[in-house]
Amino acid sequence: MLTPDMQQRLNNQLNAELYSSYLYLSMSAYFESADLGGFANWMRVQAREELMHAMKFFDYVNSRGGRVALQPIEGPATEWKSPTDAFEEVYGHEQKVTGLINALASSAVAESDHATNSFLQWFVNEQVEEEESANRILRNLKLVGSDGTGLLMLDRELSQRVFTPPAAEGEAGAA
Ligand SMILES: [Fe+2]
Ligand SMILES: [Fe+2]
Repeated sequence: MLTPDMQQRLNNQLNAELYSSYLYLSMSAYFESADLGGFANWMRVQAREELMHAMKFFDYVNSRGGRVALQPIEGPATEWKSPTDAFEEVYGHEQKVTGLINALASSAVAESDHATNSFLQWFVNEQVEEEESANRILRNLKLVGSDGTGLLMLDRELSQRVFTPPAAEGEAGAA
């Protein structure tokens, strides 16, 4: 069984993952409005990944006999000054989420909740990738600067991203 404290922390993280999904979906709408369909696609895929993260917490709390309690999801911003401005927020947000995951893992260790700590290791590794990909795109945007051709080339690259569901278990799988 999860302790009440751990159950609350996991529910909070479920909410943070849903907020991440909402934020990136909002950014997808922003990029659509800026005629950058590749960026919009990248954000749309990112929003689905975050929803998958939320479902991992949903499934994990249930599998431990806990109770999922959904909370209100904060409203994300709807406008950004530029693609660089949006990706500054993505990178900052992912760094913040890494901090949340690390704090959660530390509390699992402190409680000797080894199952939860083990579950969280997937997220520890995932955050390394999340920060790296956000930072790479941010650095590319800074290189491109005000060069429209460079921005369109980057947009074309980001149009290639496809959502990959976790191995054979569907989007809500516990893989
Ligand atoms: Fe996430
Ligand atoms: Fe993320």
